[in-house]
Amino acid sequence: MTQADFVVVANRLPVDHVTHASGEDGWRRSPGGLVTALEPVMRDTEGAWVGWAGRADLDVEPFEFEGTHLVPIRLSAEEVENYYEGFSNDTIWPLYHDVIAAPRYRRVWWESYVRVNRRFAEAAADAAADGGTVWVQDYQLQLVPQMLRDLRPDLTIGYFHHIPFPAYGLYSQLPWRRQVLDGLLGADVIGFQRVADAGNFARAVRRVHHYNTKATGITVPQADGTSRSALAKAFPISIDAESYVELARRPDIQARAAEIRESLGNPKKILLGVDRLDYTKGIRHRIKAFGELLEDGRINVGDVTLVQVASPSRERVESYVTLRDEIELSVGRINGEFDTMDHTAIRYLHQSYPREEMVALYLAADVMLVTALRDGMNLVAKEYVAARSDNRGVLVLSEFAGAADELASAVRINPHDIGGMKDAIVRAIEMPTAEQGRRMRALRRKVLENDVAKWSQSFLDALEVARRSKRAQVSA
Ligand code: G6P
Repeated sequence: MTQADFVVVANRLPVDHVTHASGEDGWRRSPGGLVTALEPVMRDTEGAWVGWAGRADLDVEPFEFEGTHLVPIRLSAEEVENYYEGFSNDTIWPLYHDVIAAPRYRRVWWESYVRVNRRFAEAAADAAADGGTVWVQDYQLQLVPQMLRDLRPDLTIGYFHHIPFPAYGLYSQLPWRRQVLDGLLGADVIGFQRVADAGNFARAVRRVHHYNTKATGITVPQADGTSRSALAKAFPISIDAESYVELARRPDIQARAAEIRESLGNPKKILLGVDRLDYTKGIRHRIKAFGELLEDGRINVGDVTLVQVASPSRERVESYVTLRDEIELSVGRINGEFDTMDHTAIRYLHQSYPREEMVALYLAADVMLVTALRDGMNLVAKEYVAARSDNRGVLVLSEFAGAADELASAVRINPHDIGGMKDAIVRAIEMPTAEQGRRMRALRRKVLENDVAKWSQSFLDALEVARRSKRAQVSA
C-alpha cells in the first residue's frame, strides 16, 4: 500500500455516501469548510484522509477521490451509539460547551471511545509514510495523538480542537480527565480556536499533571526520563472568504435574494438565524426575544420577519430531540398568535441548503443573529460578513462565540440577557446605513484577511517547525 507524507484524521471523511436515482452508490464531496481548507494541501502532497463515512456498518475499501486517498473507518451500529452519539456528543460536547446541557458519564461509552480512537490511530499509522505529518481533527479523536505517537514515534503530529476547551472547574468533572489530557499531549502542536481555550487547556495540564507550562509551550515528561515539548496555541479557524464574495456577486444569486424577500411579503426588515439545530446555538433565547418584541409592540409582523434555518443534527441524541420539540412549540405559538394571512412572524426551516441558497439568504437578510450560548468559532457569522460586499447589513454576535474575539465591530450581545438582546435587535433593525457600512467594512477586513487558507497555513507552519526540531534532535 502506498503511504502518504501528509495524513488528515477526522471523524468524518470529506465525502458523503450517496445513492443515486439509478440505485447506484457513489460519493459526493461534502460542503464543509475544513474540506475546502485542506483541498490544496491534500492535492499538492497527494495526502490521505482517514475518517468515517457517516453510516453504520458500511464496509468500504480505501479509494481515491479527486486526488486524495480516502481511508474509510467502519463503525458498527453499537459504536455509532456509544462512541459518536454517546461519548462524543452526550459527554464531551455538552461538557466542553459549559454544560448548557447536562453531560452524561457512562463507562460503556468511554470504553467504546477508546476502542474507536485506537482504530483511527492504527489506520493513520498504516497510512502515513516514514517521517510524515499527521493532522488529527476535533473532540471525537482526542486520544488519537498519543496512540499514534506510541505506534509511530517518527511522525509529526498536529491536533486541532474545533470546539471550546472548558475551564478546569468544569473539565475536572470528566471521570477520564487524565486520559484525555494524555491523549492530546501526544501531539506536537495542539491548536485551539481562542486564546482562552489554549489557556484552559494549559491550566488543566498544570492542575492534573503539574507539568511545566510557559506561554504556549508545555514540557511533557517521557517514560525514559527525558522530556519533549508540545505547543498549545490559538489558531482561529476561518472560511474560504473569496468563494463567498464570488457567490454574492453572481446575478442569479442576487435575483434569488430578491425572490426570497418577495416570497416573505417584502417586509421592511428580514432577520436571519442559521444554525445546526443544537442547544449551544441559543436558538430558543433568540426566538424568545423576538416573540417578546412582537408582544411588546416594538416590532410588528408586517414589517419584520425572522427566518430561522435550523439544519437537522444528531437526531438520535435525546437532548437534541427535546430541543427540537421546544423550538417547534414556541415557533408554532408565536406564529399562531402573530401571523396574518399575508405575513409570517417566523419562517422556520428544519432543512439544510446548498451554499448558493445560503448566500442568497445572507444577501436578503438585513440583520444576522448569531446568539450562541457557547461556540468554538461560528463560521456562519464570518460567511455573512464575507457575502456582504455591499457593506450593508448588521451582524448581532454573541460574546460567547469564538468569532467575537476577532469580530469586535459586530453588535455584541449576552444571549442570557433577554432584555439586552431585545434592545440590540431593535438597534440593529434601526441602524442607519452609514453606521452599518462603517461596521461592515471593519468586519470584512478581518474576515477577508484571515481566511481559511491562512489558518491552515499557519497551523502547518507550526507543525513544520516541530518537525524540524524533531529531526535536529534525532540527528544530534
Ligand atoms: C461541529 C464539530 C464538528 C462536527 C460538526 C457537525 O462543527 O466541531 O467536528 O463535524 O459540528 O456535527 P456532526 O456530529 O454531524 O459531525
